[in-house]
Amino acid sequence: MTQMGLPVAMSDPPPTRERSGSDGRMANRWNKRNGKSPKVTLHPGPTGPAAEICADTGVASARKLRGGYYTPAEVAAFLAEWAIRGPCVHVLEPSAGDGEIVAAAASRLAERGHIIAVELYADEAEKARIRGGPQAAVINADFFAWFADTRPDGAFDAVLGNPPFIRYQDFPEEHRRIAFGLMHEEDLHPSRLTNAWLPFVTVATRALRIGGRLALVLPAELLQVSYSAELREYLTRKYSDLTVVTFRKLLFQGIQEETVLLLGVRGDSFGARMSFVELDGLDDLRLDRVNGNGRVNVDLDHAREKWTQYYLSPAELGLIRELEESDAFTRLGQLAQIDVGIVTGRNEFFVLTEQEAKSHGLLPWCVRLVGRSAQIPGLVLRPKEWQKLVEEGGKCFLLQLGNVDRDALPESALNYVRLGERAGYHRQYKCRLRLPRWWNVPSVWTPDAFLLRQIHDGPRVIDNRAGATCTDTIHRVRTVKGIDPAWLAAASLNSLTVAFAEIRGRSYGGGVLELEPTEAEGLPFPRLGAQYLAVDDLDACARRYGVRQTLREVDRVVLGAVGLSNRDIEVLRGIWRKLYERRISRKRR
Ligand SMILES: C[S@@+](CC[C@H](N)C(=O)[O-])C[C@H]1O[C@@H](n2cnc3c(N)ncnc32)[C@H](O)[C@@H]1O
Repeated sequence: MTQMGLPVAMSDPPPTRERSGSDGRMANRWNKRNGKSPKVTLHPGPTGPAAEICADTGVASARKLRGGYYTPAEVAAFLAEWAIRGPCVHVLEPSAGDGEIVAAAASRLAERGHIIAVELYADEAEKARIRGGPQAAVINADFFAWFADTRPDGAFDAVLGNPPFIRYQDFPEEHRRIAFGLMHEEDLHPSRLTNAWLPFVTVATRALRIGGRLALVLPAELLQVSYSAELREYLTRKYSDLTVVTFRKLLFQGIQEETVLLLGVRGDSFGARMSFVELDGLDDLRLDRVNGNGRVNVDLDHAREKWTQYYLSPAELGLIRELEESDAFTRLGQLAQIDVGIVTGRNEFFVLTEQEAKSHGLLPWCVRLVGRSAQIPGLVLRPKEWQKLVEEGGKCFLLQLGNVDRDALPESALNYVRLGERAGYHRQYKCRLRLPRWWNVPSVWTPDAFLLRQIHDGPRVIDNRAGATCTDTIHRVRTVKGIDPAWLAAASLNSLTVAFAEIRGRSYGGGVLELEPTEAEGLPFPRLGAQYLAVDDLDACARRYGVRQTLREVDRVVLGAVGLSNRDIEVLRGIWRKLYERRISRKRR
């Protein structure tokens, strides 16, 4: 993979200057077409003081901020081979970087074919220009400003690229404003969650003629996050065929984000033909492995259903939809409220071992705590298990000094606060917001149960008999009146709820499934009935034999009781297993 050159943090943009005119032959075409010069902003890249940011970790974070992870050569060659069907076509690369994709495209074109490439950073644009040769005109500009000026809607035969992954807060306002404006023109509604890659996909689509081909490297977020639901729906309207290529091995070293390839044939439609092709790694990335493979025959409601549901067969999807509507089940949110764990602002300062708490004389101001999923295996946390964690030197105490003034702090606590201030903790983000009483950690309450936020196997609820609270790596569960947390914990390991957790949650490259509180509250859950669930036995079963065996026990009682047939229960278990294994296989690599 080509490595990044000398990036500059997007939040601290390099000096800019306006220029008129454009780079090279192809860009002039836009000037002539529109009768005006594209007004673009030059980004000369990091020379002088800005280059200092490249030292040490600055390189990594600046690279991250501008989304500067470049495409492996094999992928660039594949995208070009898939999208460029003739030697004389017009190609667009919206965020060229150092030109890996531009070079791959150029090698497929004859003299009459040409490439317009846009890149924000001058140094990178220059590299792309050299690699692209005479076929390529590389424009050093913000892609959105360039598009808004030149309006090349429907003008390209192929768009190839790997758009930057930049969160809303790091997406420079001057680019974001135009980008979102271009999305609004398509009746899309970007929000504060919208990442830069979404407008890149939208505008790339606008640039294609009917029949033109899109080939992009995108984050797997495309398939599963709620904020891209509208884009998913848009894509199925704007393309006649869409193929998503996923990989079991991560494509990019150094980032956990899973990546997919999106291949599309532009054509207004009532629902694109969808294909999902799963490959092991780059060695499998060949046209014959992708073309004509992986067709899915499932119609999704894109407003509600994520593309990960394409991994389900029509029969599986049918059952899921039926059960989602069924009165036989309720939602976890009807039985309990789920909240994030405690955000201390500086765990290093507030989360202590018994030894640390004692040596600073802080034990009287500490509350019981768990802070890692590994500390709560099974379905119950008992006092003696928490005590064992303490004896093993675990960080099991949360310093809770309360909302007291500095003068009212006991001497040992004041000394410890001073230590924290010497280390500068009080000036850090969350602590700073609490000044002057930065030691007062808010929202410290003890939950009835825990729910894992980052899930390995299934979304276990853990009955909190130890009276501990937790940091925000774990969610806090408060059951509603009449619901016993022990029952909730026992019932949580049923195939319906775990299958829905895989469908509703988000999985990242590392094999972990993440559920936010609202997603967890929306999970279908068995109703409290007359069924008796022996939580202590199930806890022992889960610890000893794992989730799979425990599901069998729980399903028999809670799903069987509402009349679900063995066959349906098997289908649910199969869905969970399929999605779980797909997710976990990425971790093993
Ligand atoms: C993920 S890299 C991909 C580079 C190249 N296409 C490749 O595949 O190797 C994204 C590139 O987008 C550039 N970029 C970020 N914001 C941009 C913008 N508003 N307009 C044009 N390029 C931008 C970054 O500088 C970076 O080089």
